[in-house]
Amino acid sequence: MNILILGSGGREHTFAWKTAQSPLCNNLFVAPGNSGTDSIAENINISVTDFDAIKALVIDKQIDMVVVGPEDPLVQGVHDYFLNDNDLKHVAIIGPEKAAAELEGSKEFAKEFMMRHHIPTAAYKSFNKNNVEEGYRFLETLKAPYVLKADGLAAGKGVLILNDLSEAKTELKNMLVDAKFGKASTKVVIEEFLDGIELSCFVLTDGKNYKILPTAKDYKRIGEGDTGLNTGGMGAISPVPFATPEFLNKIEERIVKPTIEGLQKDNLPYKGFVFIGLIKVGDDPKVIEYNVRMGDPETEVVLPRLKNDLVEIFQAIANQTLDKINIEIDERAATTVMLVSGGYPEAYEKGKEISGIQNITDSIPFHAGATLKDGKVVTSGGRVMAITSYGNTYKEAIKKSYQNIEKLHFDKMYYRKDIGFDL
Ligand code: AMP
Ligand code: GLY
Repeated sequence: MNILILGSGGREHTFAWKTAQSPLCNNLFVAPGNSGTDSIAENINISVTDFDAIKALVIDKQIDMVVVGPEDPLVQGVHDYFLNDNDLKHVAIIGPEKAAAELEGSKEFAKEFMMRHHIPTAAYKSFNKNNVEEGYRFLETLKAPYVLKADGLAAGKGVLILNDLSEAKTELKNMLVDAKFGKASTKVVIEEFLDGIELSCFVLTDGKNYKILPTAKDYKRIGEGDTGLNTGGMGAISPVPFATPEFLNKIEERIVKPTIEGLQKDNLPYKGFVFIGLIKVGDDPKVIEYNVRMGDPETEVVLPRLKNDLVEIFQAIANQTLDKINIEIDERAATTVMLVSGGYPEAYEKGKEISGIQNITDSIPFHAGATLKDGKVVTSGGRVMAITSYGNTYKEAIKKSYQNIEKLHFDKMYYRKDIGFDL
């Protein structure tokens, strides 16, 4: 089978790494890909949202399956584009249709979905520029901190958590009236602050059946001790030590089952990954958000623990026979540490040569914002490379990642040295 992976991050390198191990995969393409995918697949330099170019590629290379990494093409309807085209409708797409991708594309849609299906989440109300005053009154009824969420996709920056009421009101106005996040903040969800520890749960579904993948915890802030600005993710650990069997059972019964049943009841066609962002409040899980894709860098710790043939799983998703698959998980822990460009998540430089990759022995370097230039691997993004390791415990795994990072170098390389500190 010929397979195309859309995306260019560490997540997509991990997908490519796992896909390339499958005897079911003949030719593997990644668009646009990075220096990591270049060594195991053919990179094709087209944008993940240029559907016409993707169509031409799929026909030219006789591609049978497209695995969609990031949310943008899903929210813009790449799956529907394929279904509605006679030349493409036979191609298996891993990722939900547009209507279902709204679970990530609109926070209000996701909250309404959770309310309809009695899925535990924070209490909320949503506002637009015509009822800003009501938004102020609602904020006055809440206690600090105040949580404001731009309704639409805002590249992970659309959530504000503020301690001061007047600041919260100002930000609400900035979002709704002054379009702080452009179209994404035409609506704003204001919600109750949930106090607890976060973790993520990953579910595969073919629209009828589901399988739960290992949990993971990511570290979003740039600074040690979870301080400073939010990033795409600075590291991850799987499994999550505090996710006991009893707690996992609560997640499955209260959240996963009603989510999958809700998708069916609401006619939301879904073949792909559901990434459920959770927070443990007391002993109970509550949903913070849905994403309609895998997480990055969570993929870099979840897929290495999956023993199954990934392409076989994807085929089962496409054929709606996921119930026939027995998911097998490596007992070992996996951790990853993200190397980033100095300055990230604000301004940073690119084009720095990355040296020492060939000296990494017992970790896996998943390339992210890294590209080939004149035969050398150079930085091309803020998050540059995720160094994944296995261990009998997460502490052992994390130690291995840090030991291997010592062998790597690029100008202004930065990483957090405290991944797992809170566990
Ligand atoms: P989101 O983009 O929805 O994942 O939100 C980004 C981050 O904001 C989450 O990872 C949480 O750390 C935090 N957050 C979101 N919603 C809440 C909430 N209701 N209570 C506390 N923290 C939240
Ligand atoms: N690491 C968080 C995300 O992928 O959304």
